[in-house]
Amino acid sequence: MSDPALTSALTPAGPQAAMIAKLWWLMLGVFGAILLLVVALLAWGALRRRARHEPRPPFGDAGFIVMGGIVLPLVVLVPLLVYSLADTGELTEPRTVGRTIRVTGHMWWWDVRYPDDGIALANEIVIPTGEPVRIELTSADVIHSLWVPSLAGKTDATPGLTTSQILQADRAGVYRGACAEFCGLQHAKMALLVVALEPAAFREWLVARRSPPPAPTDPLLASGLATFVEAGCAECHTIRGTAAAGSVGPDLTHIASRRTLGAGAVVNNHGNLAGWIVGPQALKPGNQMPATTLAPERLHALVAYLRSLP
Ligand code: CUA
Repeated sequence: MSDPALTSALTPAGPQAAMIAKLWWLMLGVFGAILLLVVALLAWGALRRRARHEPRPPFGDAGFIVMGGIVLPLVVLVPLLVYSLADTGELTEPRTVGRTIRVTGHMWWWDVRYPDDGIALANEIVIPTGEPVRIELTSADVIHSLWVPSLAGKTDATPGLTTSQILQADRAGVYRGACAEFCGLQHAKMALLVVALEPAAFREWLVARRSPPPAPTDPLLASGLATFVEAGCAECHTIRGTAAAGSVGPDLTHIASRRTLGAGAVVNNHGNLAGWIVGPQALKPGNQMPATTLAPERLHALVAYLRSLP
């Protein structure tokens, strides 16, 4: 799981988030000052009724309305608009971008693909530190929104449309993200982790995952793989290098390295994985996965096999 400190837009860990945080503080300062000014004028207005000699407002009655109602908002809002638009350009299209990762929102999980390397993950995006990465974002069903507060702003994932977001983390760590657009029953359990690795560690990670995991030789694991194919798991899930090539649910080639199951619903451990297979609706009601009934020894083999995947 991620460090809670890495889940706030006010603890930016990359240039995109830093830009947004700077804008946030600037707007808080400017609008805070205006709030104080308005409260002071209100207090002055309330008190002046009691004064014996009623003072005139600054610039006279009509002038005060023109200055306070038209000139002041223009002078404050136009520079802020120009400043924030300038930042928006740099947020969506920076001067240099490294690799592209394709992310597709589903009800209720994230499909993550590395097109140049043939790697598929779910609910985790692994990126190198210090390099802007372009996320090409779309949706398979309804509108979702990708938000990793410490790294970037929100970007909608819209069916039939590809949007893009730049993610950059300047220090290694695990950053929590969420779906920020209500998308149905399990919108709240549509979390995502961004794992930022130092460039050398990232290259190692890429190389290790480019080729599919070797076929299991251990009899228990081999029987787990057979169960995976025979029990129907393979209809919906892919494990590269095996006969399982379903595309309805998350790619499970690297399931053992994931930190959570069900897009942040539960921690990925032995017991939760077994529980997820036999009763996914108890852990995340409404998700697309049906329960699988298995004899205990077959379940044991299946869980052992899945836990052996890199
Ligand atoms: Cu997907 Cu909310």
